[in-house]
Amino acid sequence: MKADDIDTLDRWYRCDISREEIKALMQRSDLKGLAHTVAFFAVLIGLGILAYRAIGTPWMIPAFFAYGTVYCFLNHLMHETHHRTVFKSVWLNELVHWISGFAHGAEPIYDRWGHAQHHTYTYLIGDDPEVITPRPADIPTLVGQFFGIGIFKPGPIINHAFGIIPPADKELVPESDWKAMIWSSRLWLLGYALIIASCFVFGTILPLVYTLFARFYGAFIPTLLNDTQHVGLEQNVYDHRLICRNVWVDPITSFLYWNMQYHTEHHMFPTVPFHALRKLNKKIKHQLPPMYPSVWHAYREIIPTILRQQKDYDYHVTPQLPAEYPATPQSTHLPDLGKPETVPETEASETVVVEASSPSVWIDVPDAKDMPTDDVLEFQHNGEQYAVYRLSDGYHAMSNKCSHAGAKLSRGFVIDGQIECPAHNGRFDIRTGEATLSPACNKMRIFPVRIENGEVQLGLPD
Ligand code: FES
Repeated sequence: MKADDIDTLDRWYRCDISREEIKALMQRSDLKGLAHTVAFFAVLIGLGILAYRAIGTPWMIPAFFAYGTVYCFLNHLMHETHHRTVFKSVWLNELVHWISGFAHGAEPIYDRWGHAQHHTYTYLIGDDPEVITPRPADIPTLVGQFFGIGIFKPGPIINHAFGIIPPADKELVPESDWKAMIWSSRLWLLGYALIIASCFVFGTILPLVYTLFARFYGAFIPTLLNDTQHVGLEQNVYDHRLICRNVWVDPITSFLYWNMQYHTEHHMFPTVPFHALRKLNKKIKHQLPPMYPSVWHAYREIIPTILRQQKDYDYHVTPQLPAEYPATPQSTHLPDLGKPETVPETEASETVVVEASSPSVWIDVPDAKDMPTDDVLEFQHNGEQYAVYRLSDGYHAMSNKCSHAGAKLSRGFVIDGQIECPAHNGRFDIRTGEATLSPACNKMRIFPVRIENGEVQLGLPD
């Protein structure tokens, strides 16, 4: 297969599971999201009160350690809301995204774009911005992160607040989001300045202890878990089973960690919300490497691996795949294929929406007649791919390659007249092709569809 015969996102290995099963699992729920979020904040506030009462006693240190630990798991709440899967309502996701982002010390617009790139290029070195440390593992970096060093990165927020967007950030964040990112960064700096000012006003350091300092003294356990996700495994392969580690954790940790112990499932199917990852694991675990029975078992592998890497730079662990579900040639050991194909902003903004009267050829789409309402199918013609939709008002069509990073939209699901991209959960209005939720930002090209003599036909230019 030629390197450019296939797009980056298509190259990733996908476990065998039916579209119906994924559709059932990806359903979001405000109730489940609220129950988990409220319980999480109740634990955090409860521990905060206990820590306050423990001030001046020997219990102060363990009490603040417990509070800081839960505080640092706000990172995982922000992560879930990056994907907008915690709640069904978009506005609830965004509200919690901003609150958890502020608490975590991350500006959410910038962080969300970086995380989308992490999902496109997971552990493809040079392109994934969230690699903890490429091989050979950098031990001082890893140790520092257990104390919050290197995790909290104020640099981008300060730069962006002053209107400075370095070239790498310009490549990461599209121009359409720069203004919002700059103002959001300014708001963030103002918020942090107010926290510092309150320390002077009230004559106590507690506002900082309860917020930004907690990012350091509470980092140990969340980092312990985060480092099990990828450290010491393969890199530069397109199979999440070889670059992610699933590790069993107890129910309390699972609750705080937002079920990220099912890390392979999360990367392979990012549209599935945290509360359905366990069910997803049950359906596909026979296709995955065995789950590590504990964090201890994971570190029994990680520590010797990173020590050996100090001399044997390329040493790593290759997870044992089930014999019936081996890695595919497409997903392993391919040359670097560069960036996924995207529709440049200028090209997208100039895209002409083809009107029903303008196509010069009408092509039958035989399977469309039987598709259910609010669904999408893939249709190929002359080597081009199209996504054909059926909504309550009839049929619609657009090109199948997402204008963000090229994922197949026909693998996504219809939500309120929009298609949600399966790769990064961006959305497009099916009727107009307009991007409605980031990281989708460029308009999709749409095509007319008609019904002629009982046949669904797609109108294409010659
Ligand atoms: S490929 Fe990223 S939103 Fe579609």
